[in-house]
Amino acid sequence: MPPSTTDLDRYVMHLNHALAMEAALVDHLEKRAAAVHQPELKQRLLAHRDESVQHRNALHDIVTSLRAEPTTAAASVQPPVATGLAGRVLAALQSEAEDRLLDDSLADYALEQYEAALYGALTQIARNLGYGAHAGRFEAIRQQERAMAEFLATHQPAIVREAFPPEAQAA
Ligand SMILES: [Fe+2]
Repeated sequence: MPPSTTDLDRYVMHLNHALAMEAALVDHLEKRAAAVHQPELKQRLLAHRDESVQHRNALHDIVTSLRAEPTTAAASVQPPVATGLAGRVLAALQSEAEDRLLDDSLADYALEQYEAALYGALTQIARNLGYGAHAGRFEAIRQQERAMAEFLATHQPAIVREAFPPEAQAA
């Protein structure tokens, strides 16, 4: 039995949200690659930008195949934690470029984990609605998001070391 119109509309809405997110991330990752210093991280961010282009195109094609309108909007990429009073203190501290790089790298990690969760959900939704081919594509994307998150986690000590280089033995 094909999915009901309502379920299909809701599926398309989630696909378009993901599409708007990927569209924003392509630019975001390019900016992040320009901001970081370590060559290995820079290269990995650019490689993931290329993967994100593919993710964006896959979502666009899937929405089109459902005879729906792919969104042309780009989401805005925001830090994962809202700034309150503590945020203002942090913002003052972040006048140091190294602190900003550290903070942004934590946000990058959160973002990739969010994406992995999102594609996990899309995989399940697609499967439940009977779109097995979509599910296979989303599962492949989910694995790329996870791999990126794992890379960032592995790389985190290098970012911290840059922000807070080890002192000579403290007295
Ligand atoms: Fe990603």
